[in-house]
This record gives sequence, C-alpha cells and structure tokens, in this order.
Amino acid sequence: MTMRAWQLPAGSDGFDTLQLVTLPDPEPGPGEVLVRIRACSINYRDFAVAAGKYFGGALKNPAVPLSDGAGEVVGVGPGVTAVKTGDRVQSSFFPYWVEGPPRMGPALGDGTAPGMLAELVVLPESGVVPIARSLDFAQAATLPCAGVTAWNALYEGPRALLPGMRVLVLGSGGVSMLALQLARAGGCEVVATSSSDEKLARIGDLGAVHLINYRTTPEWGQHVAHALGGVDKVIEVGGAGTAEQSMAALRSQGEVAFIGVLSPDGGPNPRALMMSGGSLRGIFVGSAAMARRLNAAIDANGIDPEIGARFGFEQAKDAYAHAWGPDSFGKTVIELD
Ligand SMILES: NC(=O)c1ccc[n+]([C@@H]2O[C@H](COP(=O)([O-])OP(=O)(O)OC[C@H]3O[C@@H](n4cnc5c(N)ncnc54)[C@H](OP(=O)(O)O)[C@@H]3O)[C@@H](O)[C@H]2O)c1
Repeated sequence: MTMRAWQLPAGSDGFDTLQLVTLPDPEPGPGEVLVRIRACSINYRDFAVAAGKYFGGALKNPAVPLSDGAGEVVGVGPGVTAVKTGDRVQSSFFPYWVEGPPRMGPALGDGTAPGMLAELVVLPESGVVPIARSLDFAQAATLPCAGVTAWNALYEGPRALLPGMRVLVLGSGGVSMLALQLARAGGCEVVATSSSDEKLARIGDLGAVHLINYRTTPEWGQHVAHALGGVDKVIEVGGAGTAEQSMAALRSQGEVAFIGVLSPDGGPNPRALMMSGGSLRGIFVGSAAMARRLNAAIDANGIDPEIGARFGFEQAKDAYAHAWGPDSFGKTVIELD
C-alpha cells in the first residue's frame, strides 16, 4: 500500500522545491504509533527548513516537512500502552521531551524526525498528545509549535502570568495570536502591535485593547511604558531587531519571553532590564506535558484558535505562499480528507 506526502529534496533552497510524492505506507515498530493525518499547520520555521537555513543547515536527505499535525491513530506497534487505535492526537514538536526541563533532540519536520505533511506518519508513543476535546483536527493542528510556545511563554517558568497582568504581543502571526487568546482567557489585558491597521482591527476583535502600528510608532516599547505604565510579559517574536523595544516595554519585574527571529538584524542594548528588574527567558517550544496543560486550558475556556486561512492537501504550496505573504493572519492550516 502507498500514501501521498509532500517532500523537500536534499539541498532544498525554498518551498518552491516541494514535490508531491508517493511513498510506501509506514508501519509502526515497537513503541510507535501510526497516525492518519487530518490537518497540518505552517510555522515560520518551516520556511527556514525549506530554505536550508534552519539550525542543521541544508537538508542532507529528502524530508517531509511540518512539525504540526493532528489526526487519528490507525495502528500501534508492540509495547504501546498509552495510545490506542481511534484516539485523536496531535504531534509533539520534540517527540522525546515528555516533561520537565528541556530535552530537545530530534524535532519534527526538519529532517531529524518525521514531518506531518503526509497522509500517514509514524511517531514514537511519546510524540503524540490527546487533542483537546473541544477542538477539531484543524484547530488542534495549530497548536504543537505555536500554541505550546505561547503557552510556555505565558504560563510556565518563574514569572507565569496571573489574572489582571498585562501582555504585549508583536505582530499578527501564529504565536502572537494564540498568545493573545490564551492571555485573554487567563484574565490578562493585551497590548498588540502590527504593521497593518487592517490587521490591528482584527486583533482588536480578538480582544486586544491597546493597538499600535509598529511602522508608524517605531518606539512602540517606550510608548507602551510611558502611555500605559508597561507590561508584565512580552511575547518577543522579532529577535535582535525588536528586543530593545520589548525590554523597554516592561514594567517592574516583567519578563521578555524570547521566542523569535522575524527581525534578525540589530544589536539590542539590554539596559532597560536593569531599570525594571526585568528578565529575559529563552523559549524553545515546550514539552508534551505543557501541551496537555495547554489543551486543558483550551477545553476549560472554550478557546477557538485563530485560523486565518485553510487549504487542501494538494494546495500545500499555495498554503506556504499565503503564510509567507502579507495577508497571513494567525495560523494557516492544510486539511486532508
Ligand atoms: N523559540 C520557539 O520555540 C519558537 C516557536 C515558534 C515560533 N518561533 C519563532 O517566532 C517567530 C514567529 O513565528 P510564527 O510562526 O508565529 O510566525 P508567523 O505566523 O509567520 O508571523 C508572521 C507575522 O509576524 C509579524 N512580524 C514580522 N516582522 C515583525 C516585526 N519586526 N515586528 C513585529 N511583528 C513582526 C508580522 O505581523 P504583521 O503583519 O501584523 O506586522 C507577520 O505577519 C518566528 O521567528 C519563529 O521562528 C520560535
């Protein structure tokens, strides 16, 4: 039996190289589960993988991309105890980081571990998490990378949010929109930036109460500090080019959750951290245990992850192009029959 998958060739230099291929059906070995994928989502990192610019550099072998998928278990190998056929599951970005301190190792969809953009995928038992009961496959597929990252940034670590605190999210991407929704559910006030006034209006509809165009207000961090008295947490997805403004936005004892590289150029001066007693915490997605806590919070609060656009499996390249383009908002999802 065969299945279809999208594959990047060795040495891929961009998502234009994606090819729809037919591969033998994978079979689960000891401790592994076979998942029929029903939806995937795209993360910024998937562009870096396709361009050969992710941590490991250019792909050395053909690879199925995407870390984020959700589907149903259609088979289990010998020794699997926690998962059974028929379970609804989502992927876990680091399939061997179950709980506790970071255990990075192989990561899904970057050539070191399976990718989700296929009809069937084999994962270790530790690499799947039950889907939140209130979510469908497309909604669940938004969470493994962006959702767990947002959850980790907001509610894990030494300065976890409490109700009434204030959060700053940067731009209208997947991590930021999920962080907005999770922070609102936790009773926090959200400040948001975007390059687009139209997108700011949509961000306002999701519950952000202070909206700033970072193009027309380039010193948005100082603006937040002066006009609002600062924030307790920044979802820092920009990197070197935005970190200085993020640090300036903190109020006393706040935290910059350092996540992204969207704006890689710059040399931030961390002086503002000294003034606020603030801290900078590095985030690298999170564990399966964090994903379970995220899903419990989603069920308890009825959170509906923001999906900006949906594409069919055959339109995977169009999905990549949309997610890369200026109209992208929240998560871009690819659905399989
Ligand atoms: N460390 C981790 O564990 C982790 C996990 C997930 C993601 N990440 C990283 O986090 C970043 C965001 O990922 P994502 O998947 O959410 O990205 P995404 O969905 O592709 O986000 C794209 C959006 O980012 C916004 N943006 C771009 N440049 C910006 C800037 N200079 N300032 C503020 N916003 C800017 C834009 O919003 P507007 O159009 O509204 O301006 C753009 O639409 C990426 O660098 C990704 O690699 C890291």
